[in-house]
Amino acid sequence: MSFNPLFSDTLPTVPLNIHIIRQEFPFFQKDNRIYLDSAATCQTPKYVLNAMRNYYTEMGGNVHRGINSQIEVSSNAYEESRNKVALFLNANSEEIVFTKNSTESLNLIANAWARKNLKRGDKIVLSILEHHSNIVPWQILKKEIGIELVWIDCDEYGNLNIDDYKNYLKSGNVKLVSITGQSNVLGCKPNIKLITALAHSAGAKIIIDASQLIVHNKIDVKEIGCDFLAFSGHKLYGPTGIGVLFATSEMQKEMTPWMGGGGMILEVTKEDFTKAEGPSVFEAGTPPIAQAIGLKAAIEWLEKYSRKEVAAHEEKLIEHAKNILSKDKRINILGKNQSGCISFTIDGVHPHDLSDILSEKGIAVRAGHQCAKPLHDHLNIGSSTRISIALYNTEDDINAFGKGLEDALKILLPTTSS
Ligand code: ALA
Repeated sequence: MSFNPLFSDTLPTVPLNIHIIRQEFPFFQKDNRIYLDSAATCQTPKYVLNAMRNYYTEMGGNVHRGINSQIEVSSNAYEESRNKVALFLNANSEEIVFTKNSTESLNLIANAWARKNLKRGDKIVLSILEHHSNIVPWQILKKEIGIELVWIDCDEYGNLNIDDYKNYLKSGNVKLVSITGQSNVLGCKPNIKLITALAHSAGAKIIIDASQLIVHNKIDVKEIGCDFLAFSGHKLYGPTGIGVLFATSEMQKEMTPWMGGGGMILEVTKEDFTKAEGPSVFEAGTPPIAQAIGLKAAIEWLEKYSRKEVAAHEEKLIEHAKNILSKDKRINILGKNQSGCISFTIDGVHPHDLSDILSEKGIAVRAGHQCAKPLHDHLNIGSSTRISIALYNTEDDINAFGKGLEDALKILLPTTSS
């Protein structure tokens, strides 16, 4: 099997055939699984599983620790993974730090950069769309060093209030903006290029939380112009336990190690240590080697297909789901320009009850506050139900969900009709 070394929209190597693609996923070979929770975690193709298995069976060494052939081959594979991620994001390899997941990437910025460079009274701008992982690290800093958090609200469709944002920037002391590239609840995509340009014009640094965006959109960090970007491998058809922090070389100069240990030092004496150069200074301890190799394979796997064709397929599925949901007047769809996921509420139905019934029918959806409680509070709802899709989903999956929902509502709302 050959792969394009670089992402290409004009030269896809493999036509998009979803039925063939599904056969590449062991997960879909069992029962009749209707999986509509890919925003939580994606399923993993055999190509990725084989790449990780190959590490354990053929390489089997630690990385950058001493000299033996296992270490050499494993270190090379690990660094090739870093190079692959860099190419995927249009970054330089030295700008890629491997972490455990997006959450760790965001906490790394909070502890290695913000804790050292921000002081009492400095402001961080967040949006109301954020996932808890892009809220709580900043709340911890707020408690500990007295920074201020200011929030950009959104309208009922998920559009951020850019005038408010401009006013915050004008008010002074904004040192950092941390914003999602795509809401994990509403599926909408803030204009991150504009938000980045505005942050920089006010002298603030900017983080993009690309946890959801990464799988649905091509991302070019140079084009966006952001200082930091975070994502998790498992939402990109890769394994769990691997995340990425893109941090420009300029920002890395302002960062001090957050965690100490092996792999991040040049020298250690009883009194002191000197730190290593480059991204490994933020990768203390044995890193997730097999997972990094799996992430490289996941990118190679995805790059077999035209991202434009993938996006068109996903858009069609979301439109189809939206049509089904809008036919039932009891259902309130959240937001407007959904991509990748749709969330909804139904008066008198608790999302946990609904997802429980769907689960019994083999249909996986997410229910609850979706790790975005402030957004739910802003929308005056306690919780919601979300379906989210990936490349391997089909119209049949959406139809099965529609039928499952109809049957569930006969149980949960026996006296009302659609
Ligand atoms: N962030 C993941 C989700 O939205 C867990 O489901």
